[in-house]
Amino acid sequence: MGKAIEAIAVQRGHTVTRRISRSNRHELNREQMALVDVAIEFTAPESALENVLDAFDAGLPVVCGSTGWNKNLYLAKEKCVSVNSAFLHASNFSIGVNIFFEINKRLASLMNDWPGYSVSVSETHHTQKKDAPSGTAVTLLDQVVDNITRKKYWQLIGENETIHDEAVIPVKAYRVEDVPGTHHVKYSSEIDDIEIIHTAHSREGFALGAVLAAEFIQHRKGIFTMRDVLMQDKAF
Ligand SMILES: NC(=O)c1ccc[n+]([C@@H]2O[C@H](COP(=O)([O-])OP(=O)(O)OC[C@H]3O[C@@H](n4cnc5c(N)ncnc54)[C@H](OP(=O)(O)O)[C@@H]3O)[C@@H](O)[C@H]2O)c1
Repeated sequence: MGKAIEAIAVQRGHTVTRRISRSNRHELNREQMALVDVAIEFTAPESALENVLDAFDAGLPVVCGSTGWNKNLYLAKEKCVSVNSAFLHASNFSIGVNIFFEINKRLASLMNDWPGYSVSVSETHHTQKKDAPSGTAVTLLDQVVDNITRKKYWQLIGENETIHDEAVIPVKAYRVEDVPGTHHVKYSSEIDDIEIIHTAHSREGFALGAVLAAEFIQHRKGIFTMRDVLMQDKAF
């Protein structure tokens, strides 16, 4: 993602002044970051929080795309407020997925009145992906739980497993070489199925969204979402 983000940032007229990886992580400090406007963090579930906190300490607003660390997100938000900075985390930065999220919420709210439909979610990603289910799938699942009162939880299950608990939404995660990311929400009744699918064709959409988010938070203070970025001048 770092390379894809750099390519889009340069295309949009920005300069990437610092590239931080494991080997030069000590450079993530106030002195080295003096010329930087925004930090964009895409690393891994186990390193995201520390990187975000250190970027705040270095005086930078932060866009973060690392997934798989939702349980600690509140710590990043608390830090953001305490240093009066800006923070935007998204499980998926692509514009298409954010439209998909809106459709998912609407479909789930309609299904609240139709208990004859069961719901399941699946996602497919490249084999290097570390977290499962994907952060995007978790967002989709949380949206369903928030909008359908009979659904209380979700559970990751194996390819050939099934769940018979009405309160639980089953989610399957497939790992296939070179797949940038596919998400599938399926409602089934005895009479018919309704399915919504988002298929990413490349990582460019995630990178563009992350750069748009960085442009958005640069002169703002607070905690934002991709919805805030996309709502600026579009019907969203
Ligand atoms: N939100 C979205 O739209 C979106 C889209 C795609 C991916 N993602 C998420 O973004 C994250 C990165 O994905 P990716 O595909 O780019 O992963 P990747 O190919 O594994 O790249 C991760 C990079 O982070 C570096 N890194 C790891 N630990 C670090 C640390 N402690 N400090 C500094 N740098 C560190 C790695 O450096 P080394 O090479 O030195 O290990 C590597 O360059 C994942 O969590 C993925 O799920 C989110």
